[in-house]
Amino acid sequence: MNQFDGGHDFSHIQRVLANANHLLTHYPNANKSVVQLAVLLHDIEDEKFKDEVNLPPNAVETHLNELDLNPAVKDHVLFIINHMSYKDSLEQKVEKSIEFKIVQDADRLDAIGAIGIARAFNYGGHKNRPLYTPNNTINPPLSKKDYTQSNSATIQHFYEKLLLLKDQMNTEAGQQIAAQRHRYMEKFLDQFYAEWNGNL
Ligand code: ADP
Ligand code: NI
Repeated sequence: MNQFDGGHDFSHIQRVLANANHLLTHYPNANKSVVQLAVLLHDIEDEKFKDEVNLPPNAVETHLNELDLNPAVKDHVLFIINHMSYKDSLEQKVEKSIEFKIVQDADRLDAIGAIGIARAFNYGGHKNRPLYTPNNTINPPLSKKDYTQSNSATIQHFYEKLLLLKDQMNTEAGQQIAAQRHRYMEKFLDQFYAEWNGNL
């Protein structure tokens, strides 16, 4: 993952793991191993980086096969990883286990708030995109195809994804953290537009 951008490096995984461990304290009956394995492996095959990085095929399954796992645990981890991404959630609704809900919420919490802002601009920079294109209106939510093909400025990404996540959190514990991080992004946007428009 050290070949990915700074928003998808191992520190992303460490933050998501901390988020997931926190959510697990609220859901003690959830299977901790399923949650933690899914968190650790969830981004190693990220399609966004397929053209930039040389990844071994089936990297997730290869790792899981190296462990002496109950097949049901392996299948559960694979299912979570294969269905949790934002783009996939735009296309199909799946039945989510509590472990699925925790992993997805933990990942999404790292996409919002101060870290979410930092990651978005880092990714936009990685793709050499403009910060903001004022005359570019978008009507979210986008289809999976439109979302995947979107080349929009980073401020537009807030409307395509980041500001929508608060209402899509699966767990109550996740919703509470997301609400605070959402308000922080709204304040950031207010300040951004004020400065952009020269309101001194
Ligand atoms: P997921 O991993 O849930 O499928 P994405 O791959 O769409 O989500 O994005 C992961 C993170 O990468 C986003 O939360 C954001 O920080 C960054 N990112 C992705 N697409 C963009 C974009 N068009 N502009 C800015 N940041 C982006
Ligand atoms: Ni992730």
